[in-house]
Amino acid sequence: MQREHWASRLGFMLAAMGSAVGLGNIWRFSYVAGENGGGAFLVLYMISVLVIGIPLLLVEVSIGRKAQQDIVGSYKKLVPGKPWFMVGYFGVLATLLILSFYSVVAGWSLYYLWGYLTGDLVQMPAEGYGATFDAFITEDYGPIFWHGLFMIITMLIVLVGVKNGIELANKILMPVLALLMVGLAVYSVTLPGAVDGLAFLFQPDWSVLKDPTVYFSAMGQAFFSLSLGIGTMMTYGSYLSKSQKLPGAVAGIGVMDTLFAVISGVVIFPAVFAFGIDPSSGPTLVFITLPEIFYQMSFGHVIAIIFFTALCFAAISSSISLLEVPVAYLMRAAKMPRKSASLLVSFVVFISGVTVSLGMGKWSGITPIGDRNILDSMDYIASNILMPVCGLSMALLVGWYFNKSDALHASDLSNSKIGDAWYMLIKFVAPILILIIFLNELVNV
Ligand code: PHE
Ligand code: NA
Repeated sequence: MQREHWASRLGFMLAAMGSAVGLGNIWRFSYVAGENGGGAFLVLYMISVLVIGIPLLLVEVSIGRKAQQDIVGSYKKLVPGKPWFMVGYFGVLATLLILSFYSVVAGWSLYYLWGYLTGDLVQMPAEGYGATFDAFITEDYGPIFWHGLFMIITMLIVLVGVKNGIELANKILMPVLALLMVGLAVYSVTLPGAVDGLAFLFQPDWSVLKDPTVYFSAMGQAFFSLSLGIGTMMTYGSYLSKSQKLPGAVAGIGVMDTLFAVISGVVIFPAVFAFGIDPSSGPTLVFITLPEIFYQMSFGHVIAIIFFTALCFAAISSSISLLEVPVAYLMRAAKMPRKSASLLVSFVVFISGVTVSLGMGKWSGITPIGDRNILDSMDYIASNILMPVCGLSMALLVGWYFNKSDALHASDLSNSKIGDAWYMLIKFVAPILILIIFLNELVNV
């Protein structure tokens, strides 16, 4: 069967940006930055994006385009008869783990959208937005319903295919989302506590750098936010034809994603301080601060509806890229039709997500890793461990297994300054940094 392809390079770029920009920029970025001290974290995060993230993004897309295969197939094809393809399985595992909790959080967003559409969330509840949200996510059935609904939407897009499903869906909401975030940021900086919030985000308190976990979290956030290392960008790259140039597209994706993270920081932290919320309050941060902002602002009801619509679409454009990785794998390896593969994987993710959802409530005592609940544990394994390990392997493959001219050729670079700089980064700098950050964290656990 003929491999599916994007209709255009722009279609690929939008899909890849859609994958990158998502809950990671708004929901995850804000709470991880909040837990890690704000400004200094932002600096480390940006360094990770520049030095490790964007160079590896180019590596990943190049591998996909060269091999024209899913993640496991790509490794098998490029390094036949060697165990490199095991890395592909880690990637597939990581997408399943991430999608399991991503869909639960996206389900919360859908529920908020619904709450504003019906008007239920418009008036501040007597117990406040914080307590109301906690009550909702600790329920048994409600959040599972919304998680299931979100998985069904994701599945319906993926089972249509690359061009008419994934690409089309992505062409719709990205620009709207950008406009909305900028608008919200402008409003947020006019709030009374804005100065404290902006200081928290932009005035680094370097003392947090003594904690090795900050480096680890910054690198994990860079990988997560760029959708890096676990085959989403490789699979998307595999739907590109060889005539489409990569470096510019990849840099654009990285810059956009980072811009979105900074802007959502500007939206969220002023509000966090204005409403006296603890910036380190974890994964529920966004769902409590945003309703507070909407409640205070004129036309807040309308803005809330538009914002949560955009947030849900941003989540969907990422979740379809996560689902596509195992689906593409099964389509090749098990010769499954796209429809059955989408159904099967979605069902597995749904069940796994049910444990995540219950982990917020009745199973909150289950803490697989340290004191992390099920959501945080899955996130930790996927983002802080599997993503960097897979990323490291890609860097080693292209930096050391390929020779230099093959590496440059695969990524449309030449023997220029940029080409040399990129090659140095992926051959030496990125792998060494990833290793140091890893060992540093392990030694200090
Ligand atoms: N990058 C996405 C976000 O920031 C999440 C994601 C991670 C998507 C890994 C695909 C793969 O929301
Ligand atoms: Na992101």
